[in-house]
Amino acid sequence: MTPLIDEALALLRAGKLVAIPTETVYGLAADAANPQAVARIFAVKGRPSDHPVIVHIAGAAQLDDWAREIPEAARKLAEAFWPGPLTLILKRQPHVSDAVTGGQDTVGLRAPAHPLTHELLARFGGGLAAPSANKFGHVSPTTAEHVCKEFGDAVPLVLDGGPCTVGVESTIVSLVSDTPMLLRPGGVPREAIEAVLGQKLEHHQKPQTAKMRVSGLLDSHYAPRTTLVTGSGERLREEALRLRKNGERVALIALEITVSSDCPATHCESMPATPVDYARALYATLRKLDTGEFDTLLLESPPATPEWLAVNDRLLRATHWRLD
Ligand code: TXA
Ligand code: MG
Repeated sequence: MTPLIDEALALLRAGKLVAIPTETVYGLAADAANPQAVARIFAVKGRPSDHPVIVHIAGAAQLDDWAREIPEAARKLAEAFWPGPLTLILKRQPHVSDAVTGGQDTVGLRAPAHPLTHELLARFGGGLAAPSANKFGHVSPTTAEHVCKEFGDAVPLVLDGGPCTVGVESTIVSLVSDTPMLLRPGGVPREAIEAVLGQKLEHHQKPQTAKMRVSGLLDSHYAPRTTLVTGSGERLREEALRLRKNGERVALIALEITVSSDCPATHCESMPATPVDYARALYATLRKLDTGEFDTLLLESPPATPEWLAVNDRLLRATHWRLD
């Protein structure tokens, strides 16, 4: 029994916020059964109050506490992937508050795999409403230090569970209609879910056709404050040289396989060439370079293949401009 877990439990039972480690990103948690406590999450994040939050539970045994008319597919997925980076959208039990569901008739449920948070949830008994522990629209945190920097004293306790092992948020699957739908790609690959279900997932994605994306116009999310430009390695190298001629300070974030010894930017960073390792490093890299030291971040786009789906989804939302 960790003393910090005792402290976290006392705070949560008193309606206070606690930042919790999960395998995906850190969450900002409150007692899901206490609407005032949940409202505090929205206030601290600066998040619009009609956005639903995920309820974190210890495991599949608690599904019926929060959801009703649970289809067999949900139980199969929970069995296969929980605890883990998968969120299921299901019809809510009537007691689940609008503060959690954003006024919808559905609830998002997930059993996270991090041992500290698993112990916390098992002892808490109830559910913890927790969005990612970042200000609205900003890059998600993957270390306790990121959370402390983001919120300072506004969050009374940050449980430090080390760096997150997955690094991008959970995959969200909706099972409220007859066809299962992928609402957000994430830590569990789409193909793994399709294999368990024995059927394809429909992917609901907002069309993103604009070459230039203006922060705030399209849904800018997961975004650094410094302008982030994505494109092919070759194009970005030219852009780095051009911007530097104009006196800009530029960081180039390239895939390690294409990094060469001559760095055309003010600073060059190399990223892992496999999607799992890349995902783990992505947010920490963006945060590290987003301190005001650079005017522009140029990021080489990973391949547009299925194993990169979750990473490419986050990059699309984080990007201000695309150059390809
Ligand atoms: O990995 C994760 O999922 C992390 C960790 C902390 O668990 N959480 C996370 O929460 O990413 P957040 O709030 O940043 O993103 C949750 C997403 C939002 O896009 C929200 O709209 C969607 O889940 N969501 C939650 N409940 C929903 C519902 N009832 N119907 C549809 N979407 C829902
Ligand atoms: Mg978030």
